[in-house]
Amino acid sequence: MTTRILTGITTTGTPHLGNYAGAIRPAIVASRAADADSFYFLADYHALIKCDDPARIQRSRLEIAATWLALGLDVDKATFYRQSDIPEIPELCWLLTCVAGKGLLNRAHAYKASVDKNVEQGEDPDAGVTMGLFSYPVLMAADILMFNAHKVPVGRDQIQHVEMARDIGQRFNHLFGNGKELFTLPEVVIEEDVATLPGLDGRKMSKSYDNTIPLFGTAKQLKDAVARIVTDSKLPGEAKDPDNSHLFTLYQAFSAPAQQAAFRAELIDGLGWGEAKQRLFQLLDDELSEARERYNGLINKPSDLEDILLTGAAKARKIATPFLGELREAVGLRSFRSDAVVASGEKKKASKAARFVSFRDDDGSFRFRLLDAAGEQLLLSKSFADGKAAGQVNKRLQSGEALDVREQDGGFAVWLDDEAVAQSPAFSDAASLNAAIERLRQALAPQE
Ligand code: TRP
Repeated sequence: MTTRILTGITTTGTPHLGNYAGAIRPAIVASRAADADSFYFLADYHALIKCDDPARIQRSRLEIAATWLALGLDVDKATFYRQSDIPEIPELCWLLTCVAGKGLLNRAHAYKASVDKNVEQGEDPDAGVTMGLFSYPVLMAADILMFNAHKVPVGRDQIQHVEMARDIGQRFNHLFGNGKELFTLPEVVIEEDVATLPGLDGRKMSKSYDNTIPLFGTAKQLKDAVARIVTDSKLPGEAKDPDNSHLFTLYQAFSAPAQQAAFRAELIDGLGWGEAKQRLFQLLDDELSEARERYNGLINKPSDLEDILLTGAAKARKIATPFLGELREAVGLRSFRSDAVVASGEKKKASKAARFVSFRDDDGSFRFRLLDAAGEQLLLSKSFADGKAAGQVNKRLQSGEALDVREQDGGFAVWLDDEAVAQSPAFSDAASLNAAIERLRQALAPQE
């Protein structure tokens, strides 16, 4: 069993060293595990909620994409895409919006913080609050549920959003799943032992404190940033206290235990801060210089990046497109052709009809299933190279022509023109096999 890990990166800023140690590095390491099936994406629809500067949105998408690739994300193994390249996500977002309780969203921290601030300032509670901000957790639920992620690694501020995705997914399952789990309910993952890096001034490294160290600036910019790290005023020769120095904390995040022990001993022995900064700069530069070159190469070839991301989107849509098809079926957005039209108000009857569900297989071929009234699979079609051929067979099965049903492989197959076009599951005994054939005949009998 593989574990599907999914996380999004909001594209409003430029990645810094803190993002690297706290999120990017662990995510890339996790994506290499043999049983990991990672989905990492640029949450650029989410970025629009916080930012109305098109140039900044575009620049940030480019920089974040280049950063992840330069740092070694293997896009053949992981699925790496832009949220805005997957039209199924906003479509699913709407289906979820229709089941998400407004009361649930009222409780979202980000929205509540805006309201509290407005109230404090004597403003209208919803002043400046967009529907984007209010619905933020529903879009995030769509990101997660679209791909049936098992695990969602996020920062602490996002825990509530993943819990809301569970709530919304569960409600949808309950309303439309017919007893089945349409959506996998995601689990939040908080990496406890990942470094939260201090910034230049010792507070958490964050763009909002303006205390960051750039990840892929020039070596000179890196050196200048390190030079601005705040230290105490002890002179060379005086003993330093490594455990009260965020310069040492930064060093620790990128060095092996033996290196750390040596650096600690030197500080206690009176190494000057100027020298210490030089050591830290060297350590960071060694860690980043190769990736910096790859980064610059990528940034200078945006059309290659575009290709990589479009390939990632195609890979993601191979899953999203057929799954959204199933979800549309589940809520009743069905083709008039594939289902008996049910008079409004006949809810019971509607949910009792057998139905065809078309989908695309992992290899891109077209198939369909016939589900009986209880949602059990009666037939799985063979693979068709194109959707039209699949549609024609599907139509003929519903045309009322006499069925050629033959027992096969512990179940039965339906034949058309000397070929088995669809196969049932295997049954444990003859009685259930015959009962299933009866359900099949009923399902495909001409509707009056
Ligand atoms: N809201 C997340 C953040 O700001 C980014 C994000 C968007 C995300 N969609 C997601 C994270 C889905 C995990 C899963 O950090």
